[in-house]
Amino acid sequence: MPKSREWHLVARPQGWPAPDDFALVETEVPEPGPGQILVRNLYLSVDPYMRGRMNDVKSYAPPYALDAPMHGGAVGRVVASAAEGVAAGDHVLHGLGWREYALVDAADAVVVDPARAPLTAYLGVLGMTGMTAYAGLLRVAAMAEGDVVFVSGAAGAVGGQVGQIARLKGASRVIGSAGSAEKVRLLVEEYGFDAAFNYKDGPVAEQLAAAAPDGIDVYFDNVGGEHLEAAIGALRVHGRAALCGAIAQYNATEPVRGPRNLGLMVGRRLTLRGFLVHDHQDLRPEFVREVGGWLRDGRLRHRETVVEGIENNLEAFLGLLRGDNTGKMIVALPAE
Ligand SMILES: NC(=O)c1ccc[n+]([C@@H]2O[C@H](COP(=O)([O-])OP(=O)(O)OC[C@H]3O[C@@H](n4cnc5c(N)ncnc54)[C@H](OP(=O)(O)O)[C@@H]3O)[C@@H](O)[C@H]2O)c1
Repeated sequence: MPKSREWHLVARPQGWPAPDDFALVETEVPEPGPGQILVRNLYLSVDPYMRGRMNDVKSYAPPYALDAPMHGGAVGRVVASAAEGVAAGDHVLHGLGWREYALVDAADAVVVDPARAPLTAYLGVLGMTGMTAYAGLLRVAAMAEGDVVFVSGAAGAVGGQVGQIARLKGASRVIGSAGSAEKVRLLVEEYGFDAAFNYKDGPVAEQLAAAAPDGIDVYFDNVGGEHLEAAIGALRVHGRAALCGAIAQYNATEPVRGPRNLGLMVGRRLTLRGFLVHDHQDLRPEFVREVGGWLRDGRLRHRETVVEGIENNLEAFLGLLRGDNTGKMIVALPAE
């Protein structure tokens, strides 16, 4: 049997994760037991939520254990099966990423069809991040036709899809912020945003006011901090914000100061609502039908940033936190 390499968390990061907090460990590949499948992973997802799992704090999901493999979304090919309904050669989506081979309970895997969509799409545009954009914008923020929509982290996996769905659903104006001039150009020229700005160029509130002089109706928050405060300041009466993530704060070592303008919520009757994509799985069939259709007819664009090799899995994750990615960040592994 071949060997497998997998990434372990060996120390809990303080602030920015350091290479010494992780180890790439070689293990034996086991035979699948009853109900199990052995999967050769082909594509691994790295996602911002993984930073939270590295902390030993009570959260909506347990933290990564020390000296044990980390996990996350992955797609691979079944190389051996002892489970009914899944055969060697099938492709599956499952939750045991950060490793080359995964021993998976078949009940925790979903067979996917590479003929229907590229395998990476099941991690991104048609997967968890795409679903987050769809549910967060349309259900949580209840975006309606004619709304002015602002999204932060707009050149990332979730944000890029939020802005385009807003446009396809009849937003009157779509504004995005991102961390480089190249990303800003992509938003306007390829994704069809009406306006975009680089949040590193100056205060977010000032740049947002210039891009949305009459204010906004919906804010999709991927970033938190200064972005959230600026958006609250720009929201109009009955405005809504979907709080999806706060990546600007994930490596903070001190408690983070909240928005200083929450008092505006009363007079403007604002709604700020946090959400987790897992609570909205009932929308999945509708999401796949609608987003799949937009992808097929070319009305929805998406990008992926692909890093090669299990040895670069950690660097891909750190790159995601730094903003190296445009669209979904993926790690590709060779087939054997
Ligand atoms: N609630 C849920 O169920 C759920 C599900 C999935 C994702 N999320 C959240 O959604 C957000 C986006 O996730 P994603 O998977 O689509 O990641 P992503 O946006 O593809 O990648 C992360 C991006 O964050 C940006 N960033 C990093 N530090 C920043 C800072 N200090 N200020 C502003 N932007 C910063 C970087 O782009 P720039 O170059 O633009 O800085 C980077 O490319 C994250 O907050 C994530 O935790 C939530």
